[in-house]
Amino acid sequence: MDPLISKIVIAIDGHSSCGKSTVARELARKLNYIFIDSGAMYRAVTLYALRNHIVENGIVDREKLKADLSKIKVYFRMNSQTQHNDIWLNGENIEDEIRLLEVSQNVSPVAAVAEVRQLLVTLQHEMGIEKGIVMDGRDIGTVVFPEAELKIFMTALPDVRAQRRFDELTAKGETVSYEQIRANIVERDRYDETRDESPLRRATDAVLLDNSYMTREEQLDWVMNLIPKI
Ligand code: CDP
Repeated sequence: MDPLISKIVIAIDGHSSCGKSTVARELARKLNYIFIDSGAMYRAVTLYALRNHIVENGIVDREKLKADLSKIKVYFRMNSQTQHNDIWLNGENIEDEIRLLEVSQNVSPVAAVAEVRQLLVTLQHEMGIEKGIVMDGRDIGTVVFPEAELKIFMTALPDVRAQRRFDELTAKGETVSYEQIRANIVERDRYDETRDESPLRRATDAVLLDNSYMTREEQLDWVMNLIPKI
């Protein structure tokens, strides 16, 4: 991209497991922008809550979680080996652990707690102050950066999303069933769309991208084509 063109904020929201982070990461690399996976931050808080028995089987002890928030430090650090912005929790790299199905099965109720959202939205907002950022999540175009210059709302058919996530987790050696994954995806969508706090919804000015039948390359080209029109 022409470096003389001023940097913008790109917000990518959408349904579970539709490849938001993949597009966001590739876009950031092409534009030389910072990529922030806001879902990783909610997953980090969930991992803390699981380890400290604050959430179990999708039931959150809200009071205990609120009381512990000051002890939870979540941040990103560049991994020089992978060139990936890894997520850290209180001095520990938890990039791999946050993708476990157990975290996916507990993250939506944790992310519905208002105080958790306030904490993480403040951090996310600070990360975008200088622009030149691509952030993906559920409320980026509606709450975190309502002024973002480019907003994309991504989705894909549930079966396609479940198959992609199943392939991803089994490739990493996790033993999961396709049905378990599909059920988790559908349940998280329902939870995220119906919660009181910043529910998942398409911003009125977001461009819709359904990538059910698109390859990674096709979707990246599709998104890159939106950039010069700003
Ligand atoms: O699995 P996937 O990559 O689709 O999800 P994620 O982006 O890692 O987000 C995990 C969960 O965090 C979501 O299901 C939401 O409950 C929550 N989340 C949120 O509430 N707000 C965000 N900005 C990002 C994620």
